[in-house]
Parts: sequence; structure tokens; C-alpha cells
Amino acid sequence: MVKPRPQVVAHRGASAVKAEHTLGAYVAALDDGAEALECDVRLTADGHLVCVHDRSMRRTASRADVVSAMELADLESLDVSSWKTPWAEMDDERPDTDPELGKVLTLRRLLETVADYHRPVELAIETKHPTRYAGLVEKRLVELLEEFGWTGADAPVRVMSFSWLALRRVRRLAPDLDLVMLVENRQQWYRAKPFLEPDAVAGPGIELVREHPDLVRRMIELHGRRVHCWVVNEPDDVELCRDLGIEAVITDTPGAVGRHLAGSGA
Ligand code: G3P
Ligand code: CA
Repeated sequence: MVKPRPQVVAHRGASAVKAEHTLGAYVAALDDGAEALECDVRLTADGHLVCVHDRSMRRTASRADVVSAMELADLESLDVSSWKTPWAEMDDERPDTDPELGKVLTLRRLLETVADYHRPVELAIETKHPTRYAGLVEKRLVELLEEFGWTGADAPVRVMSFSWLALRRVRRLAPDLDLVMLVENRQQWYRAKPFLEPDAVAGPGIELVREHPDLVRRMIELHGRRVHCWVVNEPDDVELCRDLGIEAVITDTPGAVGRHLAGSGA
């Protein structure tokens, strides 16, 4: 049986070539054909959801400050792009870029970008834990999604987390939203499984899928569970995911993965 080809989800935007989680990275991913966008979200001290992976701004802005202790205005004043292209300053022929494309991005702005794009796009939003704000993150997330009318079964949004507690909160607040339980290893999966409803999507990392393809086969073929996999950049891994019947691949290189899937007749 020919398996349907997986959806191509841009991990933090087109993060192989652009600074992750910036508007520039997401626009590049969309323009390169991404069907969905993945982002991590954290809550700022003044209550805004921002797209940032790490707890602190050390890696992407050389600042030790913790995101949850910063206000949005402070975050927006940081340069979170230069770390990706440290030699760009020395390139006289480099085209000018819009500074808006390289700042810390609010989730609201990302949702607007998706809503305004000229073709349907989905969003896979990961809430990061632990954080001092605990369940407030999911509460604010659902409130924001409600503003966009995106909490129903037809919403172009799913919520992901490594915390099953976080997913349970989202289920209570917005029962129709799709949920993805992220796991890195088998132990995490077996620990979370008793707390998951049958319709929750499993979200293993590619290492787990490579090491235990039979586990994924059982999830899909025996239990009818949907599976999304991260971070799938190599053609062999894309093939593996497609052959297993994985529904979505989250990748740093959405353009290349999309072209690979199109070219391999999937
Ligand atoms: O899409 C899930 C994946 O993003 C989880 O890992 O560390 O990139 O958030 P991380
Ligand atoms: Ca993530």
C-alpha cells in the first residue's frame, strides 16, 4: 500500500539557513513550501507569549537573562539574528534586510502571519516546561487562539509538549485541539501513555524512530495512533518516516524535504 506522504513542518522556521524563531525564518519556510510551522513558546514577565526555545537568551543574543523574567520590550530590543551569520557584517554586498524580520517574534505575530498567508498553513506550537508560570502558559495560549477563532476541531493549530500535564491542561481548556506528546525515548513514552487519550498524537524524535521502528509501527498499525517526528533533516530519515506511515516530519530544511518527497514520488 502506498503511504500518504508526510506533512512538511518547518522546525523553528527555515532554521538551517535563517536565525531560528524569527519572522525571517518563518517567511523563508513558507516561501520554500512549508505546509506547517513549528514554534516553541514561553511567557514573558509582562504576559506575552514569545517564540523562544531556550530558557535564557544566552545562545541567541549573548545575554544571560531568563526569558520569563524579561518584558517584551526588552526582548524586542535584542539582536537574535547575528549569531546565525557572524561574518555578515564584513560582507559589503550583503542586501539590506528588514530589522523586523530578525527580532524576537511574538506568537501573536506568527499567528497573524499564518492567518494572512495566501495558502493554508498549519501551526505546531510547543509549550516549554518547566517554567515559573506553569499552567499560565497554556491558559494564555488558549486565550490567544480563541482570539483567532482557532480552538475548534477545524483549527489549523496543534499543541505539543514534553509535559503530559501541559497537554492535559490544553485538553481541559480547548477539548477539540489536536495534541502531540513529544518524547525522546521509550521510557518517556511508556510513562506518558497511561495519561494520554487515544487521539493524542505521538511525537518521537528521529533517534527513537531509527532505534525502535517497531514501536512506531505498533503505534500506527496496531493502535491507530497518529505519529509526528522531529527533527528530520536527512533524506534516509525522511524515507523511513514515510515508509512507517508517519503523518508529519518536523525539519530544519523544509524546502529540501518537500522537494525530496515530491521528487521521490511520495
Ligand atoms: O518539534 C519538537 C521538537 O522541536 C522538540 O525539540 O528541543 O527542538 O524543542 P526542541
Ligand atoms: Ca520545539
